Amino acid sequence: MESELLRLKQEAGEALDTVKDSAGLEAFRIQYLGRKGGLLTGVMRQLKSVAPEDRPRLGQLANEIKQGVELRFEEMKTQLGGGMQSAAAGATDYSLPGRYLPFGKLHPVTQVMEEICSIFEGLGFAVAEGPDVESDYYNFEALNIPPHHPARDMHDTFYVTDSILLRTHTSPMQARIMENQEPPLRYIAPGKVYRCDSDITHTPMFHQVEGFLVDKDVSFADLKGVLTAFTHKMFERDLALRFRPSFFPFTEPSAEVDIACVICGGSGCRVCKRTGWLEILGSGLIDPEVLKMVGYDPDVYSGFAFGLGVERIAMLKYGIDDIRLYYENDLRFLSQF
Ligand code: DAH
Repeated sequence: MESELLRLKQEAGEALDTVKDSAGLEAFRIQYLGRKGGLLTGVMRQLKSVAPEDRPRLGQLANEIKQGVELRFEEMKTQLGGGMQSAAAGATDYSLPGRYLPFGKLHPVTQVMEEICSIFEGLGFAVAEGPDVESDYYNFEALNIPPHHPARDMHDTFYVTDSILLRTHTSPMQARIMENQEPPLRYIAPGKVYRCDSDITHTPMFHQVEGFLVDKDVSFADLKGVLTAFTHKMFERDLALRFRPSFFPFTEPSAEVDIACVICGGSGCRVCKRTGWLEILGSGLIDPEVLKMVGYDPDVYSGFAFGLGVERIAMLKYGIDDIRLYYENDLRFLSQF
C-alpha cells in the first residue's frame, strides 16, 4: 500500500508536468482525482482494508499525497485559465461592430433660429447680420427713440461708453440696411441681443430675429399674411393669430401678435395663464419718422417690421418652461433636440 501510494505520487507528478492545455488538465483530473475511477481516489478507498495499526500512518500519508496533487492541480488550472484570459484580452476581434463616438448637436436655439430663417427665406426674405456692439444712434435714435425718451427705460441697456452699447434688439438692422439701399427691400436679421435682466423668462443674452419689408403700397394686410404663413409653418399647424394693439416708437400702428395656446389650443391652461393666447412677437407698420431718417419719402414708400424672440419660440415649440435651461450646458437637456 505504501509503495503503491509513493508510486502514484511520482506518476501523478510526472503526468502533471506534461499537461499543456486545459483539455489535458481535465483528462488528468479524471484519471487521478475523479470521484469514480480516479486512481488516487481508488487507493484511498483501499485504506479500509489495511491492518488497523497501520491505518493512521497510511491514512495520513495518503492524505498528504492527495492534497499535494490537488494543490498542484489548482495551480496549473489558474495558470492555464489566466493565460487564456490575457490572450483574449490582448487579441483584437475584427468582426466586432465599431464603437460610435458621441456626435455633438446644434443647440436648440441655433436649430430654431435656422428654421425661422429658412421659413422667411422661403417667403423671399434675404438674411443680414449686424454687430452686437452697436452705437446709441442705430439702437435708439434711428428707431425714433431720442435721448431721454421713456422707451429707453424698457431696454435695461448694457453701456460700453456713453454712445456705444450692446444692442438691446435686432431692430438697428432696419436702419443700417435701409440707409444703404433703395426699396423694394425684404430682410431678416437674426442675432444675439443683450439686456441687464435675469429670471425664469429672461437671460442677459438672448436671440432675436428682426424682419422688415419696404415697398410701395405695403399695408397691414401684408404683415398679417406674412406672419400667418410663418406661424403656421413654424408650429406645423394652422393656429389662430391675434393682433393686439400695442406701442413701439419705430412702428405706427403697432401690434403684439399672439397665437392660440400651443398646449391647450385656446381653451385656457397654466402655460397661457388661462387666456388661451401666447404672445410671440412685436410688429407694426414702419413709422414714417424712421423712413425719413434713412432718406425715404414716406409718401412713396411704406413698410412693415416685426421682431421675435428665438428662445421664446423654441420654448413654445418644445414645451420648455425655464429659459435658463438653454444656457446651463446640461447635455441631458441639450441632447433631447
Ligand atoms: N425691437 C422690439 C423689442 O426688442 C421688437 C419689435 C417690435 C421689433 C416691433 C419690430 C417691431 O420690428 O415692429 O422689443
